[in-house]
Amino acid sequence: MTLHSEGHALAISATGVDHDYGKRPALHGVDLSVAAGEMVAVTGPSGSGKSTLLHALSGVLRPGEGEVRLGEHVVTSMSEDARSRLRRTDVGVLFQFGQLIDELTLAENVALPLLLERRKRDDALATAKAWLARVDVVDLADELPGEVSGGQAQRVALARALVTNPGVLFADEPTGALDSRAGDSAMELISDIAAEEGLTVVLVTHDARIAAYADREVVLRDGRVDADESVGAR
Ligand SMILES: Nc1ncnc2c1ncn2[C@@H]1O[C@H](COP(=O)(O)OP(=O)(O)OP(=O)(O)O)[C@@H](O)[C@H]1O
Ligand SMILES: [Mg+2]
Repeated sequence: MTLHSEGHALAISATGVDHDYGKRPALHGVDLSVAAGEMVAVTGPSGSGKSTLLHALSGVLRPGEGEVRLGEHVVTSMSEDARSRLRRTDVGVLFQFGQLIDELTLAENVALPLLLERRKRDDALATAKAWLARVDVVDLADELPGEVSGGQAQRVALARALVTNPGVLFADEPTGALDSRAGDSAMELISDIAAEEGLTVVLVTHDARIAAYADREVVLRDGRVDADESVGAR
């Protein structure tokens, strides 16, 4: 099922990205290009800058140096407000723990980004339910997050990340809290949806099995790109 007709995956490019947190260096001269529709896994040791890179690419932080582009947008030249608006409409994010709101039903959780964009409630809930069906948990639409499994909650978080039809999905250890079976099933779902809907995916993982779902693996070490190769080539 395709929930919107045109693929509108965004290409991503980072050029000469440097970032320090105060005196602590996190990224040095990172160059990275991701083609529209490509899935890239970012791996590397703890503290190597993976999450910082994701934050720089998604416009959560403006790096000290360098340029980031998402599609046509030069993210590093945009104001804070323009970056948050871009994130709300064109960027989906998924975290290790789904970060669903406990007091809202699963359908309301998925509808939330649309409600924040002032879509009508009935319309937002109908779109949310279509996404819950797409991730195979529509039966749970009226449950609360506390009443479902971790794997189911992560599918709901994926639906929420995609409900605004973003052109890019950034995922930081999306399977880190799941067992290997739930992790595989989440990755199969992400790959299928990315191919069907037209989505560029950058995902951080420390798990080689999860990285194998990607087209390319970029390895960070001490804030630098240490390797960048297509997964099939290994
Ligand atoms: N908010 C912050 N304030 C200060 N230093 C930070 C902050 N976030 C990250 N750092 C530092 O920046 C460097 C890169 O951190 P980052 O979180 O990007 O690594 P990571 O590769 O995601 O690690 P992990 O695998 O543990 O999640 C580390 O030295 C870290 O201590
Ligand atoms: Mg991290």
